[in-house]
Amino acid sequence: MNKPVRKAVFPAAGLGTRFLPATKVIPKEMLALVDKPIIQYGVEEAIASGIEDIIFVTGRGKGAMEDHFDRSPELDAMLERRGKQELLAVSRGVAAMARILSVRQQEPLGLGHAVLCAKDLVGDEPFAVILPDDVIDAQPPCLKQMIGVFEEKGGSVLATMTIEGPGISAYGVLAGSQDRDNPRIYNCTGMVEKPKLEEAPSTQAIIGRYVLTPRVFELLEQTKPGAGGEIQLTDGVKALLKEEKVFGYTFEGKRYDAGDKFGMLQATVEFALKRPEFGEKFRAYLKELAP
Ligand code: UTP
Repeated sequence: MNKPVRKAVFPAAGLGTRFLPATKVIPKEMLALVDKPIIQYGVEEAIASGIEDIIFVTGRGKGAMEDHFDRSPELDAMLERRGKQELLAVSRGVAAMARILSVRQQEPLGLGHAVLCAKDLVGDEPFAVILPDDVIDAQPPCLKQMIGVFEEKGGSVLATMTIEGPGISAYGVLAGSQDRDNPRIYNCTGMVEKPKLEEAPSTQAIIGRYVLTPRVFELLEQTKPGAGGEIQLTDGVKALLKEEKVFGYTFEGKRYDAGDKFGMLQATVEFALKRPEFGEKFRAYLKELAP
C-alpha cells in the first residue's frame, strides 16, 4: 500500500529568459494570467487535488511568490477601512490557501537539481511536481487524475499529451505500450528528449506534472549533468524506470505553456472568454477585431 501523495514541489528557480524583458525583475511565476499570477493556478490545482504542503523551490529575486501567499496586513486594513469586503476576502483567501514551505536553489543547475533541493522537505513519501508555467484547464484537475492513476497502479506517473506531427520535437517523448484496460495509461519503457518526428517513439509528449516515488531523490543524487550541463529530471526518471514501474498518463484537459509569450496569449484569451463577468463582452470585442 502506497503512502498518500500529500506534498507538491513547484520548481520556480529558473530565469524565465523566454519572457524577457517582463521577467528581468518580476518572476515569471508572478506574471498575471487574466487577474491571477500563474503560480496561483498551480497552487489551486494542487489543493483541489488533495495536496496539503506546497514546496516552492525558489532562487534570487523570487521573494514576491512567497509574499503573494502571505498575509498583507496593510492592504487588508485599507480594504477593511474602505468597506471593500469582497476584495478583502480575495486577499485573505490567497493567504489562507495553503501551507507554503520554500527552499532555495542557489544556482539554476537544472530541473532535476531543483527537485532534489526539496528532498529534505518531502522526506520518504511520494510527491507531486508541478511546473508552474504549465497552466492546465481540467476538471477534475490534472494532478487529481494523476494521483488516481498512482493509487491504482502503484508507480510513478508522468502526465502526457498527444501531439501528432512535428510539434512533438519540442518535448520529451514517452516510449511504452498502451494499457489494455485504459488507453490513457502507458507502461513507460523509456523517454527520448526532443526527438526528430521520425524518431519519436510515440505521440505522447511529457508535460509539467509528475507524481514520483521518493527513490527518485537518491537517483538524482547520482545523476551527472546531461543536456546543457544541467541535471535533468528526465535522467532521474530514466534511472527510476530500471527499478520501478513508471506510467505515462494522457490527462484529460488542456495545457497552456504560460512561460512562453504565445502560449500566455492563448491562455489569456481562452481563460478570459470563460469568465462570467466579462466573457461575453470580450467575445464580442474579438469578433469586432476579426469579423
Ligand atoms: P524552463 O526551462 O521552462 O524555465 O524550466 P526557465 O529556465 O525559467 O525559462 P526559460 O526557458 O529561460 O524561459 C522548467 C521549470 O523548471 C524550473 C523553472 O523555474 C521552470 O518552472 N527550473 C529550471 C528550476 O527551478 N531550476 C533550474 O535550474 C531550471
